[in-house]
Amino acid sequence: MTPPPRRQAARRRTAVLRREAVLATVPVAVAALLGAAGPAAAGTTGAAGAGDPYFPLSGNGGYHVSHYDLTLRYDTASRHLDGKAVLSARATQRLTRFDLDLKGLKVTGVTVGRTAAGYRRHGQELVVTPRHALRKDQEFRVTVTYHGTPKPVTDPDGSADGWIPTDDGAFVAGEPQGAMTWFPANGHPKDKSSYDFTITVPEGRTAVANGILRGQHTAHGRTTFRWHEAAPMAAYLATATVGTFKVERYTTPDGIQVYNAVDPREAHASAPVLKQLPSVLAWESKLFGPYPFRAAGAIVDHAPGVGYALETQTRPVYDSAPDLSTLVHESAHQWFGDSVSLTSWKDIWLNEGFATYAEWLYSEQHGGDSAQKTFDALYARPAGDHLWAFPPGDPGSGKNIFDTPVYARGAMALHELRKAVGDTDFLRILHAWAAEHRAGHGTTAQFVRLAERESGKDLDGLFHTWLYVKGKPKSA
Ligand code: TRP
Ligand code: ZN
Repeated sequence: MTPPPRRQAARRRTAVLRREAVLATVPVAVAALLGAAGPAAAGTTGAAGAGDPYFPLSGNGGYHVSHYDLTLRYDTASRHLDGKAVLSARATQRLTRFDLDLKGLKVTGVTVGRTAAGYRRHGQELVVTPRHALRKDQEFRVTVTYHGTPKPVTDPDGSADGWIPTDDGAFVAGEPQGAMTWFPANGHPKDKSSYDFTITVPEGRTAVANGILRGQHTAHGRTTFRWHEAAPMAAYLATATVGTFKVERYTTPDGIQVYNAVDPREAHASAPVLKQLPSVLAWESKLFGPYPFRAAGAIVDHAPGVGYALETQTRPVYDSAPDLSTLVHESAHQWFGDSVSLTSWKDIWLNEGFATYAEWLYSEQHGGDSAQKTFDALYARPAGDHLWAFPPGDPGSGKNIFDTPVYARGAMALHELRKAVGDTDFLRILHAWAAEHRAGHGTTAQFVRLAERESGKDLDGLFHTWLYVKGKPKSA
C-alpha cells in the first residue's frame, strides 16, 4: 500500500513547487532586524517570535495566552471579515511591549485591560505598547478590533494556509502559520489555549469551529454560531470554516458529541467514510488510549485547489470527500499533534509519522496490507528516490515539513521501533506517550527516552538511523 492519494497529491504539488520556494533565511534576517529574535534580546520587550528556526516570527515571547474569545462576522459575498479578539494572557516577564501575529487586515483598536494601548504593524507582527508596563506574572486582557478581506499566507512549500475563500464561504486551516490571517495570535504550537468562537454568517450558511456547539440563532438574515473548545489548542488547529453545509449531529456510545458539516457536492462520496468515524475513533482509542476531547466530527468542504486536509482539533477539515485512510490519519492526529503538541516544527514527524503509521496499522487490522508489507514496498525504493531526500527528524527547513520523507520514513521509524521492542511494548509506548503528554507537548528526545524506559532497551542507534541519518538507511 502506498501512502494515501490525498496527501500524496499535496506532497506531489509541494515537490513541484520546491524550487520556487521563498528563501528560508529571509525571516531570520527580519527577526534579527526587529532586534527581538530570542530570549537574550528580550529585556522588557516580548520577543517577536517563539524561537522556531523554521518559522522565526511564528508565536511571540513574553506571555502565554490561556484563552481566546473570537467574535467574527463574515460576509460571504464581499469576503469581508469583521473581528474582535479578546485574549486572556499572563506575562512571563516584565513587558513594556509585546507582539501578536497578524497578517493583513486593518486594526482599528487595541486595549490592554480597559486602557487603550499603542500599536503599530510591522510585517506579520502587531506590536502592542500598553499604557502601563505589565509586571512579570501579571494576568491581562488584550482586545483587538479589526476588519478587512483575509487572504491566505503562502507557505515555504508553495501551499496556501489560513483563511482560504471558497465559492460559498471559506476553508480555514492554519498549519503551520495561517492563524494570523484571521485572528491576532500567539501563533506557535508552544502556546496552547482554550477558545470561544462567536461567528455570524449570512442565513443559509454554516460556520463550523472546534469543540462543542453552544448555540445558534438567526435574526435579520444572519445566523450566529457559538462554539467552545475547552481543551488546550494550538492556534494552527483553530478553524472557522464557512459554507453551505448539510449538518449531522449525534453522540457516540462513548459520549463523544459528533458534529459533521458536509458540502452537498461532497455528500455522496463522503457518506460511507463518515459513517466509519465512531468505529475509527473507538479503534484508535483502544490503541492510543481514551479519545482526548469531548467533541468530534468532520468538515467536508468543496475547496478545489487547497490540496490537503487538516487535523483541526476535534473536527478535521477536508478539502473534499476523504477516503478512509485519510479519515484514519486525521483522527490519529487528535492524539498525536493535537493533544500532544510540537514545541518545534522540526519535530513534525511526531505528528505525520504517527498519523501515517496509524493508517498502516488500520490497514493491517482491517484486512488490508500489513505494516511490514507497506514498509517493504517503501524500503524497496532506490537510494535516489525522493523518499530518502532528507531524514525525517531533521527536515532542514519549513519547506520540507509536509514532504514524503516526514510522512513515510517517519512511519518507517515507528515500524522499526515496533520490530525492535515487539508489539506489546510498542503499543505500551504509544499509549504512554499519549497519556503522559496529553493536553501538552512532546519532543523527539522525550519520545526516545520514553520508548527506552518502557522497553528497557537502548534505542539510540535505531532512532539515530531512522530519524537523523542522511540517505537510505541500511536495513536493520
Ligand atoms: N497536517 C496535514 C495532514 O497531514 C497536512 C497539511 C497541513 C499540509 N498543512 C499543509 C500539507 C500544507 C501540505 C501543505 O493531514
Ligand atoms: Zn497529517
